[in-house]
Amino acid sequence: MEVDLKILKANFERVRAHIGPDIDIIPILKGNAYGLGGIELAKFYVDEFDVKMIGNAQVWESVEMREAGINCELLVLGGVPFNNIPAAVKYSIQTTAFEQEYVDLLDEEAARQGKVAEIQIKINTGMNRIGVKPGEDLLSFVKYLKTKDNIKVRGAFTHYASSHAKEHSFATQQFELFKQEIEEIKAEGMELDYIHTCNGCATVWFPEAYCTAVRPGNLLLGYDYNKNPLDSLGIEHAVTWRCFVTQIKMLQPGDTLGYDQYFTATEPTKVATISMGHGDGYYRPMLMEGGHALINGKKCKFLGTSMDQSYLAIDGVPDVVLNNEVTLLGKDGDYEITPFDWRDFTGQSFVFLNSIRNVRVKRIYLK
Ligand SMILES: Cc1ncc(COP(=O)(O)O)c(C=O)c1O
Repeated sequence: MEVDLKILKANFERVRAHIGPDIDIIPILKGNAYGLGGIELAKFYVDEFDVKMIGNAQVWESVEMREAGINCELLVLGGVPFNNIPAAVKYSIQTTAFEQEYVDLLDEEAARQGKVAEIQIKINTGMNRIGVKPGEDLLSFVKYLKTKDNIKVRGAFTHYASSHAKEHSFATQQFELFKQEIEEIKAEGMELDYIHTCNGCATVWFPEAYCTAVRPGNLLLGYDYNKNPLDSLGIEHAVTWRCFVTQIKMLQPGDTLGYDQYFTATEPTKVATISMGHGDGYYRPMLMEGGHALINGKKCKFLGTSMDQSYLAIDGVPDVVLNNEVTLLGKDGDYEITPFDWRDFTGQSFVFLNSIRNVRVKRIYLK
């Protein structure tokens, strides 16, 4: 699998040009950078753009980045299991806080390690995933935080439930509520270095809501999944995933293929066995139920899979040879397969389909 860093650089520059020079960009690299390689991309964004902060979902993702030498600020966006608190403090990782019990434990651990733990407050403006409820709850949470000597509040943020949707009224409503709550926090005398609401989709269409920073994930990595507006920044796909033909054979009518004789030929059928299976993190139903890959510029249908090897029908595909390249994602001739095609074929989220790719698929970074 190849990740074209020149394209990622251009995507970052497109986002930078769109939002202007004064807003921080916090690349969200959770889930191994949505499958593209978290540590490599963290190094890329720090070296190339000197980003101040990177976002992850879990403490261990940030610990891995610290151990790999990433020195910028790291923010964990999700809730933290209590047994991860010592590592968050030790590695100076900012975490997201929205419960007093968590704040108590974090404060105690920071005192034990002789450190100050940094947090950002998550405000639940309507998604109802994590966050403090606006109003009374937020006010008493802020007052409570002020009593904690070993905790420093660095920022506050919220997340939109449907920023990618055609219709923006719920996100706009969420932002109005967020603005009020930020004023309440400031009225308590709390200073916030980071105030942010926009994921990648909202970064494209919601400049009023940039505050001090934006948090794009997929957008930087090549996927603008806004329905409104469509592709307005010209973001490009950066990933090509290929494997190889390992054997070519002719099946005769009645011959079967694979485990449990999954496929039975009803006519002479030319088949290529290829070096990728569901164990590589390719969504199995696409391999079993007629998804496609590209060989020599032609679309070929999957006839089944096993953990490490799959089968493609190659009738009518010219000049297929042993070790022929097979394109699973990316361009070959007139065709391109994208995660959005996978989404449309399966009805699954493209983020899910992208993120399940196994680490054994070697990532190669084109500079
Ligand atoms: C809190 C938060 N911020 C930002 C992002 C980045 O989202 P996207 O990839 O849609 O830009 C996510 C991802 O789900 C998130 O959970």
